Amino acid sequence: MSAQPDTPAPADWRPDSWQSRAAAQQPVYEDPQALRSAVERLSRLPPLVTSWEIESLKAQLAEAARGERFLLQGGDCSESFEDCESGAIAAKLKILLQMSLVLVHGGRRRVIRVGRFAGQYAKPRSADTETREGVTLPAYRGDMINRLAFEAAERRHDPELLLRGYERAGLTVNFIRALIDGGFADLHHPEYWELDFVHRSPLAGEYTRMVESIGESIRFMETLAGGALTEMNRVDFYTSHEGLHLLYEQAQTRQVPRRQGWYNLTTHLPWIGNRTRALDGAHLEYFRGIRNPVGIKISAGIGADELQALCERLNPANEPGRLTVIHRMGADKVEKALPPLVEALRRRGTRVLWCCDPMHANTLTTHAGVKTRRFETILDEIEKSFQILTDCGSCLGGVHFELTGENVTECLGGASGVTEADLSRAYRSQVDPRLNYEQSLEMAMRLARLMASQRA
Ligand code: PEP
Ligand code: CO
Repeated sequence: MSAQPDTPAPADWRPDSWQSRAAAQQPVYEDPQALRSAVERLSRLPPLVTSWEIESLKAQLAEAARGERFLLQGGDCSESFEDCESGAIAAKLKILLQMSLVLVHGGRRRVIRVGRFAGQYAKPRSADTETREGVTLPAYRGDMINRLAFEAAERRHDPELLLRGYERAGLTVNFIRALIDGGFADLHHPEYWELDFVHRSPLAGEYTRMVESIGESIRFMETLAGGALTEMNRVDFYTSHEGLHLLYEQAQTRQVPRRQGWYNLTTHLPWIGNRTRALDGAHLEYFRGIRNPVGIKISAGIGADELQALCERLNPANEPGRLTVIHRMGADKVEKALPPLVEALRRRGTRVLWCCDPMHANTLTTHAGVKTRRFETILDEIEKSFQILTDCGSCLGGVHFELTGENVTECLGGASGVTEADLSRAYRSQVDPRLNYEQSLEMAMRLARLMASQRA
């Protein structure tokens, strides 16, 4: 079946039809007038992405579902306003470019690069409130909703933060587009993306040899072609975030000239979180009507019938590329939980891209009470997922990481050997622990080897 760019929205759907359903994990604002005013101003701002970029990503995701490409999605668990600065943004771009280079080289598959940024500012929480020394305040829900400091004024849900978040998302997208258009991602100059500590890393030798071999191949091809390979100068880069705060998503849901249907123009690939995927809930209602490709996170507890029902609701026409199932089951559960789902969808001909999030079900708390994850356990869930999907006659089409281009110490293990004692040294995440620069690069190398062995 070909892509269907001109499908209208369902007749009974509107960008605000979700408001008649129960919406989980939404902030509670004190002043409805202030909220209305903020959402109204937000809806008048220009979009961050375009419908043709969205459709082109959807077509690429359809290829990934068929094993012809590979989706690399990564970024912070929770972006912070403070980190909206050039160094941190460039570092995120650099690590994703380096990882994608490693995957293309070793895995021999074209890579779709999706940054979990420019809007990843709203978080689901397990409790609405937090209590410290007898004081109870609203939980921190992400920089677009309230502030981290444990003070009543900071934890108040503030609608103006929706605008501040959208503006920062715009600044982030603008900088990334400018870097890429200016040649930052040019394969002739991979040294542009090198982070300072690459040379101190135990992986430096392997990475440098790979970059040199790519350089030689490009020069060889250019000699053959008799000129520069201009295709090598730029890459596509897409954005994603959890579409959690439905008023924010709705405010930028638009119709565009010469296309039918509605697009969420805050991001290319919004996803539904594991905690907000109720079949009759507000998030499903909102997401079923937009034309973007969408992701849905699932945990080990989901049944095959439930997953099939979610797929039918989100993608009744079974459009290729529309749906990415991001499974996050845990290295200890994936072998039992994943195969029946893959089998069931395959039997019914339900088209999805399978993408492994090896982070969210592999979180542990150290004796000192620090939330962390082990490199080896993360890798284990990926390796098992690769095998399961191959055994089921399907393929793992992508991965979803929480990572940063900076030298933090939030996850344990990897070649550089982050230990429990190291965690306190550079733990910066406000929510979940991220792979640091070296751990991310090493993960890409291990993944590339896995992809290469599957080809053999
Ligand atoms: C997340 O991606 O940060 C998250 C909250 O994930 P999940 O919905 O899978 O728990
Ligand atoms: Co997270």
